[in-house]
Amino acid sequence: MKICVVGTGYVGLVAGTCLAESGNDVICVDIDDEKIEQLRQGRVPIYEPGLEELIKRNVAEGRLAFSTDLGGAVRHALVCFIAVGTPHGEDGAPDLRAVHKVAKDIGSMMDGYRIVVCKSTVPVGTHAQIREILSAETDQPFDVVSNPEFMKEGAAIEDFLKPDRVVIGCSSDKAGEIMRDLYAPFVRGGAPILVMDNASAEVTKYGANALLAAKISFINEMANLCEKVGADVAQVRQGMGLDKRLGMHFLYAGLGYGGSCFPKDVKALIHTAHTSGLDFELMKAVESVNQRQKRKLYEKLEAFYEGDLKGRTFAIWGLAFKPRTDDMREAPAVGLIEDLLRAGCKVRVHDPEAMDVARGIFQDRITYHRHNYDALEGADALLLVTEWNEFRRPDFDRVRRMLKAPVIFDGRNIWEPAEMDKLGFYYFPLGRPSVTQPTGHA
Ligand SMILES: NC(=O)c1ccc[n+]([C@@H]2O[C@H](COP(=O)([O-])OP(=O)(O)OC[C@H]3O[C@@H](n4cnc5c(N)ncnc54)[C@H](O)[C@@H]3O)[C@@H](O)[C@H]2O)c1
Repeated sequence: MKICVVGTGYVGLVAGTCLAESGNDVICVDIDDEKIEQLRQGRVPIYEPGLEELIKRNVAEGRLAFSTDLGGAVRHALVCFIAVGTPHGEDGAPDLRAVHKVAKDIGSMMDGYRIVVCKSTVPVGTHAQIREILSAETDQPFDVVSNPEFMKEGAAIEDFLKPDRVVIGCSSDKAGEIMRDLYAPFVRGGAPILVMDNASAEVTKYGANALLAAKISFINEMANLCEKVGADVAQVRQGMGLDKRLGMHFLYAGLGYGGSCFPKDVKALIHTAHTSGLDFELMKAVESVNQRQKRKLYEKLEAFYEGDLKGRTFAIWGLAFKPRTDDMREAPAVGLIEDLLRAGCKVRVHDPEAMDVARGIFQDRITYHRHNYDALEGADALLLVTEWNEFRRPDFDRVRRMLKAPVIFDGRNIWEPAEMDKLGFYYFPLGRPSVTQPTGHA
């Protein structure tokens, strides 16, 4: 099938590449000339495991191309995906200007029947706006499909190639059949393709992200309770999560959710509810718990050093909002570093993938270290902020030698308090017993 994907961010690039991988003829379009030029030269502007190889293979086999020429891509394609960003505006409502602009441009360039598929996460009712915009631009026949994307950064390719389900919102049998055809190669394992009305598809995406965000805020609040009452959230999590109705996923206490989706989608859902006359109290609480949680490590530092932070140096392991991505949008590390700098601290950081992104945010206000151990040199404490696999079993003797004092604040609970006690570390996890007087006895 001939496809065009407009927007080559995380979603557009992964979707376009995976659609090419299943044999389609795909043109990915972006307004960012530099990005398209990089992609043409085989350089991938984002870090996503496995993406580079897949792009190279499909480009070499002539199924995947990159362009800034939207008109050419629209004339080429039967199915035009819109996968541009929908960042949240001041009032929490997503900014749909890019979606509207692309819809207008597609409408003005269509020369026959097209299926215009909105893959961007958009509030309910956007499909009708897209339809109106297209109608104003063209007399050609078209269908509008709402096809939200559920991929996770860091595992995006796997998620696209083997989705749990595919959601297709449309009101036309013809478009529904073509979309089923397009997705058939990805659901051979038996995952369902759910065809529903456009509004339900749009709401489904927000419902899924909101419930995941709610699980995170719930377990974080449980961790805060555990700290107050002397319980261990890691044990509580197991006891709860093994109940099949609850499940273990998304029940890890941490420094709150970040990234480009959960924060904005929670805000958008609250906004949609509000404009529909509903006060979505639950999601407001999810959001405020998350804001509070992002400051937890800093509060622990203030308590441990009794407010005396000025002039101290801290090493941070992990900057991305989660492992296996270089995305730092709304990452807990950003607010933490800003707080530390404001308090007059020096900050030494390491992240396996997000250092370039961090440089763009902090320039020379912090120091960047290519090796995780180098970041520790002379630091008063290690702060673990993102749970990359390579941090799970470090050489703790080396960690102790490099730090000025054996102090660790663990914002993701990746180490065990009892072990840290034996290793002689002062250790501060979230919702678990801290080690305030390490014995150092094996
Ligand atoms: N990132 C994720 O994990 C994820 C997962 C599911 C859904 N989503 C949703 O998918 C959408 C895209 O997210 P993303 O993370 O890929 O965004 P992104 O910001 O990484 O990429 C958006 C791309 O669109 C391009 N663009 C903007 N306006 C354009 C125009 N007029 N013409 C052509 N290109 C244009 C930008 O240059 C950029 O390359 C959002 O609505 C997001 O909520 C994201």
